[in-house]
Amino acid sequence: MIIIQTRNYNEMSKYAADIIINEILKKPKIVIGFATGETLLGLYKELIKSHKKNKVDFSNLISFNLDEYYPMKRNDKNSYYYYMQKNLFRHINVKKSNIYYLNGEEKDWRKECKNYENKIKKNPIDVQILGLGANGHIAFNEPGSLNKSITRLVRLNEGTRRTNKINNLYALSMGVSTIMKSKKIVLLASGEEKAEAIFHLINGKVNKNWPVTYLRKHKNLIIILDKHAAGLLKSIFLEQKYLNTLI
Ligand code: GLP
Repeated sequence: MIIIQTRNYNEMSKYAADIIINEILKKPKIVIGFATGETLLGLYKELIKSHKKNKVDFSNLISFNLDEYYPMKRNDKNSYYYYMQKNLFRHINVKKSNIYYLNGEEKDWRKECKNYENKIKKNPIDVQILGLGANGHIAFNEPGSLNKSITRLVRLNEGTRRTNKINNLYALSMGVSTIMKSKKIVLLASGEEKAEAIFHLINGKVNKNWPVTYLRKHKNLIIILDKHAAGLLKSIFLEQKYLNTLI
């Protein structure tokens, strides 16, 4: 596990973008797992900048998205499909046929989840980008999710629905084990509302009540925090248990 503490949101976003761009340059046919949420908007802006200013090429990239509300129309402003188009895909040269997403319009959600899991098996994820919920959820693996869980229909937590301002009761989400199979995971966290979950990830027991703690078992995990999300970690950094790069 590598922990990178940055001073603020912009630094966090730039640091993450450098890591992702470096991976794309190393392997243009990279498979990236994308996530949604406010936390990642800065990173996506940096990726767009890299394409427009520095001609970073996304044409061979294959993308999978973590989750989607269910049921959900693709072009609904609340859909994660819409978020990804608006905040990233529309602005870079990723090929439409290389974009995989969980379809919230599909009536047969079992089939949709099974197909998605199979598509990921055929195109293993090189780098999974992650945010997290204040309650420790990753994707929509809410507290109580098991580490062996795969892509499935999940019931959303009341708190999550409130925070995300969404009426849907359900979502489709990659499972914990689907996420853990990614070769590298880059987790971003910003703001003090994420500090408790980050504390559990780094200091707490691996347990289903804080699904983010499962990530501790991943061999190639990079955590990029701003100082607010890292607010409860001081003593750990002083102990120098983990590599802490201040930039
Ligand atoms: C949603 C997504 C998560 C994401 C979380 C955090 O719940 N399903 O994948 O990590 O939002 O969002 P934000 O970055 O806006 O705090």
